[in-house]
Amino acid sequence: MRSVYAGLMTGTSLDGIDGVLASFDDTGFTLLHHAFAPFPQNLREELSQLVAASQIDFTTWARTEQALSLFYAEHLEKLCLQLPDNSQLIAAGCHGQTLEHRPELGFSLQMLNPALIAERTGQHIVYGFRQRDLAAGGQGAPLVPAFHLAYCASAENSRILVNLGGIANITWLPNKKECLGFDTGPANTLLDSWYQYLGLGNYDQDGRYAASATCDTELLHELIDDPYFRAPPPKSTGREKFNLTWLENKIGKSRLASLDPASVMATLVELTCLTLSQAIHQLDPEAQSGIFIAGGGAKNHFLMQRLKEHLAPRLCQSSRALGIAEDQMEALAFAWLAFAFLNGHNANLPAVTGAQHPVPLGQLCPGRARSWL
Ligand SMILES: Nc1ncnc2c1ncn2[C@@H]1O[C@H](COP(=O)(O)OP(=O)(O)OP(=O)(O)O)[C@@H](O)[C@H]1O
Ligand SMILES: [Mg+2]
Repeated sequence: MRSVYAGLMTGTSLDGIDGVLASFDDTGFTLLHHAFAPFPQNLREELSQLVAASQIDFTTWARTEQALSLFYAEHLEKLCLQLPDNSQLIAAGCHGQTLEHRPELGFSLQMLNPALIAERTGQHIVYGFRQRDLAAGGQGAPLVPAFHLAYCASAENSRILVNLGGIANITWLPNKKECLGFDTGPANTLLDSWYQYLGLGNYDQDGRYAASATCDTELLHELIDDPYFRAPPPKSTGREKFNLTWLENKIGKSRLASLDPASVMATLVELTCLTLSQAIHQLDPEAQSGIFIAGGGAKNHFLMQRLKEHLAPRLCQSSRALGIAEDQMEALAFAWLAFAFLNGHNANLPAVTGAQHPVPLGQLCPGRARSWL
């Protein structure tokens, strides 16, 4: 019988928490339930300030970590209501909120108090997934490609999985054995930041605002001229690099203020599509791979339309074609990482993260005393 795990993910877009319940064994998985809860506006604002802060005061840190961890605990409890019996859950893989990702320093910081979640829910919490890979010389990211290789690869057809999260990343699966994956550059985090800066809301619903303008080609060329896009993999990035300060530094504050804001939005969409499609063309020059798209950006119609145009003639489909909805992929991968950790499997892919060797990923904060193996 397959064992049930939860996966809880709060990504760089700061939109909220995705949680899944899924059962796994070494041959497959069954997705049992998915639920998303948006961050309360004050928690979103506090996290957003902490991500942007150059100095952090411990009182703010303590309050925000407490609020975030309680938010995780509440979401986990709601997920567990879907099970006939709470004790059916083996463990929950909880990612935490990345505040700083600095692989060049061997450092990646995910805010979370697993003890508080374990105390509130009584469940075993697996967390701290990135540290061991970093300790082994890797980027600590991306970790989801290992899940893709385990469950989404095909022996017959080459596949590329795209995640349009806060950052855009790709996983290349030429067959069931090989895998490459890396962050290609900014996606929703920069789009959302610009939209929020303009005071228009949290995000550009369906990409309507971006679609109302045309791309500024000169601006696009300036933005794409960045060492990150030219660097070979392994590479990973985050909101600490691709943010409004990056945009201002690239083109100057006063010039940015003089541009049509909708055209800047359209240009940022184009930047995501171009950096992604250039990476895909390099991996798959003969356009033989099927493309599967996940992440919140898959709901942005304008972004999807432009991306499909860039990637033609490749067939672009939603990750639903693989049995996983767009917003379930990352949380499902962290449920699987908890499963892999507790079953003694190494879960990083050195070809992806650049680590010196395979390592187990995670740390355990036990809930109530009970055997889980
Ligand atoms: N209907 C929509 N129209 C446009 N954009 C949308 C829509 N729905 C979601 N999004 C975008 O998706 C984002 C959330 O995506 P997602 O949850 O995949 O990112 P994330 O939490 O940063 O995850 P990751 O860990 O992959 O970085 C939102 O902030 C928003 O920009
Ligand atoms: Mg999210």
